[in-house]
Amino acid sequence: MGWSSWNQFGDQINEQLLVQTMDAMAANGLRDAGYVYINLDDGWQRHKGARQDHPLEVDPVKFPHGLRWLADYAHGHGFKLGIYSGPGQTTCAGYTGSEGHEAEDAKQFAAWGVDHLKYDSCCSHKDAPKTEVQAIVKKMSLALRASGRPIVYHACHCGWADIWQWAADAGANHWRIGQDISDDFDYPGHREKYYFDVLDMLDRGITLGQHAGPGHWNDFDMLVVGLNGKSQELVGAGASNVEYRTHFSLWALAASPLLIGADVRALDAYTLETLSNKEVIALNQDPLGQPAEKVRDDGTLQVYAKGLANGSVAVALLNRGSATAEMTVSPGKDLGEAWKHYRVRDLWRHAELGEFDIPFTAEVISHEARLLLLSPVTGHATTTDTTDNTPAPK
Ligand code: GAL
Repeated sequence: MGWSSWNQFGDQINEQLLVQTMDAMAANGLRDAGYVYINLDDGWQRHKGARQDHPLEVDPVKFPHGLRWLADYAHGHGFKLGIYSGPGQTTCAGYTGSEGHEAEDAKQFAAWGVDHLKYDSCCSHKDAPKTEVQAIVKKMSLALRASGRPIVYHACHCGWADIWQWAADAGANHWRIGQDISDDFDYPGHREKYYFDVLDMLDRGITLGQHAGPGHWNDFDMLVVGLNGKSQELVGAGASNVEYRTHFSLWALAASPLLIGADVRALDAYTLETLSNKEVIALNQDPLGQPAEKVRDDGTLQVYAKGLANGSVAVALLNRGSATAEMTVSPGKDLGEAWKHYRVRDLWRHAELGEFDIPFTAEVISHEARLLLLSPVTGHATTTDTTDNTPAPK
């Protein structure tokens, strides 16, 4: 969990922004909610162009005190620092890449005190043989290990070469399952024939759950919550508050890394509440590390479920349609649980909804995901009225 500079700022990043971001996250509670990785994406480097023309250096104008200073600032304030590079001659935004200099760069990152590396091939190996992509991922993985510093490793390859099948063995801690996200909930087709909206990403990633678990995760890309169509970098028209909340709920259930992409210095109250919901974050961080599966698909009405370490099951009732709908979840039929009685908690309304012995039914507005925690109950009276009277979201 953390923040990444790309979705809002692109390569327009600098020391002041990073320091203000950390200060804001310490002050507004996001750090203490678990968002500790502060990840510089592309654009921290001094030079554009290939290595033979320039060494890999930090931009002294953007980062006057250098990256060791920034890492020390992060560590001194309860954060970790992430950095970005790629296996090409240049990175996706045209800055100096690491090709042929993996060992040297990994050592440099370690010396700066970096805690996370996003290593990004810029979707450039789409048709390359799997062995070639594996070799690239592994080379930097070994270089990071040899650096002697524990550095979380993100192998960013646009979800090609079936990366989920082998990236953990190659030493990666997370890997993108698709192309870049756009700031849209459900754009018809792919924007610019490339970008995945929230639902595209969900549909792609949710089938890959069996490849993820503690220490190795499917990455559904950085959050667009709170961008509101105003990113300097990402395409997209923005989404409604309800849609952003649904996006956050689904990334949490899918056990994706939660990397905030918005400007945390200027979050409105609703967005901050969305990102800070401790009950939802707890699902994402559950120690069992089991990603959600889609357990029912009635076209626009879908049910997702994530088993938790304590035996409860988190459920999202997702209404992808344009009209409010009644949705039902059955612990037996949908979740395979032999519970006689169970209780239901609503994780956005922070409310206990009662105890039940028949399927639970709730009203779900358009593009909402009702996020529920279902837990078995023994020896209690049972309510059979499953009418859900909790108020609709703001
Ligand atoms: C893209 C990547 C983005 C961002 C960008 C930087 O390939 O998917 O998340 O890192 O490169 O140039």
